[in-house]
Amino acid sequence: MSFRLTYATMYNPPEAMHERFEAALARVEAGLGAQHRLFIDGVDRDAPRYALRHSPFDRELRLGEFGLAGDNDVQAAMCAAQAAGPAWRAMPVAERTRLLHRVGELLEERVYDIAAAMVLEVGKNRMEALGEAQETVDFFHHYADDFESHAGYNHVLPDDPVTGFASHNASVMRPYGVWVVIAPFNFPLALAGGPVAAALVTGNTVVLKGASDTPWAGRLLADCIRDAGLPPGVFNYLSGAGREIGEALAQHPLTAGITFTGSVPVGRHLMRQMAGGAYPRPCIAEMGGKNPCIVTERADLDRAAAGIVRSAYGMGGQKCSALSRLYVHESVADALIGRLHAQATAIRIGDPRRHENWLGPVVNATAYENYQHHADALRDAGANVLCGGARIGLGSGGRTALARGYYVEPMLAEVPLQHPLWQHEMFLPILTVHRYGDRDEAMRLANDSPMGLTAGFYGGADEVSWFHEHIEAGVTYANRPQGATTGAWPGYQPFGGWKGSGSSGKAIASFHYLAQYLREQSRTVVE
Ligand code: ALA
Repeated sequence: MSFRLTYATMYNPPEAMHERFEAALARVEAGLGAQHRLFIDGVDRDAPRYALRHSPFDRELRLGEFGLAGDNDVQAAMCAAQAAGPAWRAMPVAERTRLLHRVGELLEERVYDIAAAMVLEVGKNRMEALGEAQETVDFFHHYADDFESHAGYNHVLPDDPVTGFASHNASVMRPYGVWVVIAPFNFPLALAGGPVAAALVTGNTVVLKGASDTPWAGRLLADCIRDAGLPPGVFNYLSGAGREIGEALAQHPLTAGITFTGSVPVGRHLMRQMAGGAYPRPCIAEMGGKNPCIVTERADLDRAAAGIVRSAYGMGGQKCSALSRLYVHESVADALIGRLHAQATAIRIGDPRRHENWLGPVVNATAYENYQHHADALRDAGANVLCGGARIGLGSGGRTALARGYYVEPMLAEVPLQHPLWQHEMFLPILTVHRYGDRDEAMRLANDSPMGLTAGFYGGADEVSWFHEHIEAGVTYANRPQGATTGAWPGYQPFGGWKGSGSSGKAIASFHYLAQYLREQSRTVVE
């Protein structure tokens, strides 16, 4: 029996879905400890070194040994991608899209096993992991269909009458060459697979670098691409330390373009790198968020609370789309905060392999330390801490069942507006709250950020156009119970940031996305 994973099934999963997940988890756990190689020029390839990795929910659970690529591997991957370029871009579009659809099919066949691996590797809950794996499937099909439906984005243009000769004109979109994709830890499959699919379908060849914390997810994507039968060198996978490999890829003379998803400082650094070299090259940087939600006195508070809790605390706030700033009208603030408190303190925290646990650990020791640091800073600044603010994992000195993981409490706090954490992306389950009296003041505060990725709104139906008109964000949600700021799905919610959140202004899975992987060649031929 197969299920198409959608939001409906994700929020109300049938029992058989759990059974399939648990069977997959048992299979994947039986293989823990294996060595995971690089994938270069169509073959799995040994890395010069390997790193043993453990799960964030249990520091004694050995996931496996993952390749640490060296300079030679970067060079080999780039050269393989370069060599594979001419044949790949000459391949008929129908054949290229057939191969991408095949990758999508293989991902879908393996969706439960891949999700199980992501639960173990990142600590996300099973529905988040299944959702991400399915989203990756959809990216491959979506971009293949989109490219075909746009006829490769090519256009025949009118003859130019000026010369007196018959002059045939066309705009033809051509790939750039070797495209580097640098994936983030929080969506290690979808935000690797999406840009990889986009770069490939448009005729570029690809070198993917997985995030340092999540080399496994990228390797599972590489397995599907390998098994789909793409020609050698068209896609290559490297795992290893971000600072070294990311830098080497950005500086490599064969790198024609980059898609990076991650932090603002690294994104800006890569943009500077790509602006230098022999000539400037494109850099699609999907960076952070400091996402606000405005709740007016006319909001449905039950709906608002459900959406806010999902978006602030889902996956421990470790989403670029996560909600971190809440502005609520003073007349409904107590009622909303009461609901948020009840829901946040009822969240089941624990081993994400178990289906009753909604919130797993944060990703690593740094995030775990940062949580305490930020929680303490808020308390010291006089915040009214409504719930949370403590670590409950490793810091508990082995007293609890959670003692081997990086678990933290969802935190909700009313925070003075001048506190710097209103501006700083924490990437943690910490939601700061402010009561406002004037709606325009709430909008001014919501826009008072260098970021502009997602934004939520709960209020009257006739207030929504005001929200759309004034909010500075690339992805907006009004009155949505499934999530105030999170949960974009390919084909339904194009996903891209304004301001410091994104470099391109073209959203993921939008009508405009693929064109970024192409450069225009104007062709005039005179008879
Ligand atoms: N698709 C992810 C979300 O919207 C990034 O939360």
